[in-house]
Amino acid sequence: MAKILAIGIATLDIINTVEKYPAEDDEIRVVSQRKARGGNATNTLAVLSQLGHQCSWAGVLINEPDAKTIQQDLEQFKIDTQPCTILSEGKMPTSYINHSVATGSRTIVHHRDCPEFSFADFVKINHQQYDWIHFEGRNITETAQMLSWLKQHRPNIACSLEVEKSRPDIESLFQLPQLLMFSQHYATTVGYSSAPALLASLPNDLNATCTWGKQGAWALTNGDLIHHQACPPDKVIDTLGAGDTFNAALISALLQQKNLSQAVAQACQLAGKKCGQLGFTGLIN
Ligand code: FRU
Repeated sequence: MAKILAIGIATLDIINTVEKYPAEDDEIRVVSQRKARGGNATNTLAVLSQLGHQCSWAGVLINEPDAKTIQQDLEQFKIDTQPCTILSEGKMPTSYINHSVATGSRTIVHHRDCPEFSFADFVKINHQQYDWIHFEGRNITETAQMLSWLKQHRPNIACSLEVEKSRPDIESLFQLPQLLMFSQHYATTVGYSSAPALLASLPNDLNATCTWGKQGAWALTNGDLIHHQACPPDKVIDTLGAGDTFNAALISALLQQKNLSQAVAQACQLAGKKCGQLGFTGLIN
């Protein structure tokens, strides 16, 4: 069991399951609706906690009613929120999600009126207690400061960075953590048509993974390229947070001293299992 800190967001996800994705100006009824706590960093922690790790989240909590739903869920997964910044103004990030039964796609419309977690609050954390610190690739200027600070002051703590979306200057972070976790979405947005093409563009000394949906995941380590097949469930139920689950399984396996190839294999398995169930509860028996 390790102590893990993740820096990123928690959201309120309002998930409408629809027969098929609606056309513009349509009026349709949902098959079902559910509300859940979401957000990449906290999704990853919800899985890491079930894998037996002691998890803490550093992000922004706004003192408004939706934060209660989010906090209750974090409590259920035993995620410590002590390092969070609590504000009285604003709104917890909210995602309105259309989950299509026809294709399994999840289309996200995101509302934000919430400041990012700051470097000033980050330095107040007692970092020494953590074995691993995971970052969402957002809030680039302050995240660069956080990663550089760790590199200088806490070089023994392993750090990972999720690169899910292309954001201005995100590439300036690539040399700072020990592991980069790329998404297919990032790779295609910046012009690569495959995971190997993206990974081949990186400097040889970086360790990185890149997921590619049904094609599985690739990794780059010591200049070697590794591939593992996806492990799809018999029936795809819910893909929301599959990438966050992949990242959690990867971190957990590496903390157990597995090599990157073994870790990617385990991550493909757990991400596949997650796609076969709703949400994150009960993912690990
Ligand atoms: C899934 C997710 C959702 C959230 C959205 C934020 O990876 O974290 O839970 O609403 O992405 O971008």
